[in-house]
Amino acid sequence: MLTGKVIVVGVTGGIAAYKAVELVSRLRKQQAEVQVIMSRGATNFVTPLTFREISGNPVVVDMWDEPKSWNVEHIALALRADGFVIAPATANLIGKLANGLADDSLSTTLMATTAPVLLAPAMNSNMYQNPIVQQNIAKLTALGYRFLQPDCGMLACGVEGPGRLPEPERIVDAVIELLCPQLPLAGKKILVTAGGTREAIDPVRYIGNRSSGKMGYALAAAAASFGAEVVLVSGPVALDDPAGVRVIRVESAQEMMAAVLEEFPGSDITIKAAAVADYRPQTAAQHKIKKQAEQLTLVLEKNPDILAELGQRKQAGQLLIGFAAETQELLTHARGKLERKRLDMIVANDVSLPGAGFNSDTNIVKLLYANGHQEDLPQMDKQSLAIELLKRIIKLAEK
Ligand code: PMT
Repeated sequence: MLTGKVIVVGVTGGIAAYKAVELVSRLRKQQAEVQVIMSRGATNFVTPLTFREISGNPVVVDMWDEPKSWNVEHIALALRADGFVIAPATANLIGKLANGLADDSLSTTLMATTAPVLLAPAMNSNMYQNPIVQQNIAKLTALGYRFLQPDCGMLACGVEGPGRLPEPERIVDAVIELLCPQLPLAGKKILVTAGGTREAIDPVRYIGNRSSGKMGYALAAAAASFGAEVVLVSGPVALDDPAGVRVIRVESAQEMMAAVLEEFPGSDITIKAAAVADYRPQTAAQHKIKKQAEQLTLVLEKNPDILAELGQRKQAGQLLIGFAAETQELLTHARGKLERKRLDMIVANDVSLPGAGFNSDTNIVKLLYANGHQEDLPQMDKQSLAIELLKRIIKLAEK
């Protein structure tokens, strides 16, 4: 997919620099012309010779080296590049870029390019989570730089957490997404639900759940970045609207049902990440219930099952994806829902696990497909998971 593209791989000084060797090799297998610029620090981990052999091109390290042609080197590469990928991107490089500093070949070339830039940060977890680094990432993101979330896991420094450079295969996928002119979901309408519903007890009280909306919002944002027209039906959450997404706000399961049924007919793909209340109070008191009796009994009645209704209405060519939030017998319950609700795929999360489910920044899921296939995904942040899920959903849509 990258035939003829000129990709500049920037390598900065982190232990993960060794993974950039495989990245260069994989980019070349995709028929890209790869030019490597290393920071001086990176040369302590991998030699320029290695990158020269793997890329098939001279490697730039020092701004003051004798140029290989009359062109000013950093300007020449900045102009020729179709895209840049910086892997690993250290806190130092991110900080320099965010603050307009250009004091070596890589930072100077980055400053001089108008090509899209993808950064794959890799560093110690505390460094990555440091508000200064996060502010720099946010600033650069707002300026149009793309970031690939680091993986969670055991880091070279012995600390466990986010900060690992994603596998080269994932970085290549992200480069393809960055440079591929035809976005994979262009022309598709995607309906996503997110957050929990609130079922009124009286004007001030409700029955709710712990859903933050993070999973559904991440899916909506990722689908929009893949070129889809996205409608997000959201319960009450404390999140900003994702860019380029039409958001319909609802409170109760019945309101969610009405909004979803309205949007469903023209949707190619529907993903139901919302945590919908299965029951609601039979009557919502008109006025605030006063504290009187020792006990108060609420009579609950069943809410409609929105997803099951969509399963009945689904037409050929429409894909229906559900979530299953379970605390026991995950696979049995999830498969039951997949079959009963006529889904194409269900994302099963054991919400009793730390780092999974409600209100967590990460999730751990198992995917069950209608054809009986099962896939277990490792723990990852919800943004990365959203992208992984969409990639699989795109494959399903292609069948
Ligand atoms: O929002 P976060 O804090 O990021 O948390 C994410 C999440 C844990 C909410 C999400 O990952 C998740 O699991 N969402 C589904 C939660 C849920 O209600 O699961 P369920 O097993 O009860 O429902 C199964 C499916 O049927 C879900 O797709 C649900 O949206 C749908 N459903 C359920 C009941 C109902 N009355 N109508 C429905 O459409």
